[in-house]
Amino acid sequence: MIERLPGLIDPHVHLREPGATHKEDWDSGTKAGLAGGFTILLAMPNTDPPITSKKSFDMALAAAENKSRLDYAQFFGASRDNSRSLGKIATRAAGLKMYLDQTYGPLCLDDMTVWREHFLHWPGYLPITVHAERRTLAAVLLMSILYDKHVHICHVARREEILLIKIAKEKGVKVTCEVSPHHLFLTEKDISPESPGRGEVRPRLGNSKDRDALWENLEVVDCFATDHAPHTLEEKDSKDPPPGFPGLETALFLFLTAVAQGKLTLDDVVLRMYTNPKKIYKLPNQYNTWLEVDPQPTWEIQGANTFTRCGWTPFEGWKVHGRLKKVTLRGKVAYDDGKVIAKPGSGVNIRKKGIILDKNLKNW
Ligand code: DOR
Ligand code: ZN
Ligand code: ZN
Repeated sequence: MIERLPGLIDPHVHLREPGATHKEDWDSGTKAGLAGGFTILLAMPNTDPPITSKKSFDMALAAAENKSRLDYAQFFGASRDNSRSLGKIATRAAGLKMYLDQTYGPLCLDDMTVWREHFLHWPGYLPITVHAERRTLAAVLLMSILYDKHVHICHVARREEILLIKIAKEKGVKVTCEVSPHHLFLTEKDISPESPGRGEVRPRLGNSKDRDALWENLEVVDCFATDHAPHTLEEKDSKDPPPGFPGLETALFLFLTAVAQGKLTLDDVVLRMYTNPKKIYKLPNQYNTWLEVDPQPTWEIQGANTFTRCGWTPFEGWKVHGRLKKVTLRGKVAYDDGKVIAKPGSGVNIRKKGIILDKNLKNW
């Protein structure tokens, strides 16, 4: 039986343009997005140069406008000295991204007085999206309370983190969160001793208690986000492997497999891959947009058969359920049985002037 699903939204992808298009660009990354059932991607700002000024923001949007095959918005990155300038152009961004722990790229902010400036100046109608692990998470939840601003926590990976967010939500803190498929389906035991670089990711893969705590507390998880972070195999197998996994082309099928196994319902998936990200980031409706999915057939994941330029996957050889038959985006067939039909540049910036951002909608 063919199921009709809404076009999925991935609120956390790294498309590497500008600066590292040998890993991915707005063309290859959005092809991968369509093949994974996504019709909106929100792009992270840790590019080269990073998206921390109007100039680099416009550079990324120019690439997206020429190449994107699906709809998108770009995050601003918080830096030491841009807190006052970003508030004025915030309506053009997906949201503000703050890197509060060390990861790939130059954007890590250590100094809490800099965090404070951003919490003060970023307008309250869009979330402050953070990479904040362990005790950093506790610190940023305190900022959210002190400044009464909504924080969205990226890729929650550990038991201690999901339990803290649960309590914060119970106390009325304005916090939402996302979990990535690799933290739900993999643990540190899946890292191969022969190629440990391929297991590098931030946050690191946890132990089985961490993974199980994420499944046990799914009601606390607002979104599933791939954190698609492509690096080439040559880079992953080098002496200094960069952290990150590709994820756009596997997420939906891993979740459909969990549905087939009775661990989730299809409604659970739609809530976290469409309804909640749309609400949190105040994304507009995409009219005449839907997926046709056959949830039953099984197939084997193979990195060599992917659209992402990095050409590998941490789920190599996994047998998963579900075939994506067709993606219809704003009335046109964008993907049909393994083929990307949408043309580069056919995607729309959902934050461009004229597309309404309803500042009054409650977003958490
Ligand atoms: O593993 C990761 N890779 N975690 C991040 O936070 C950044 C990402 C990247 O950009 O490669
Ligand atoms: Zn991150
Ligand atoms: Zn990321």
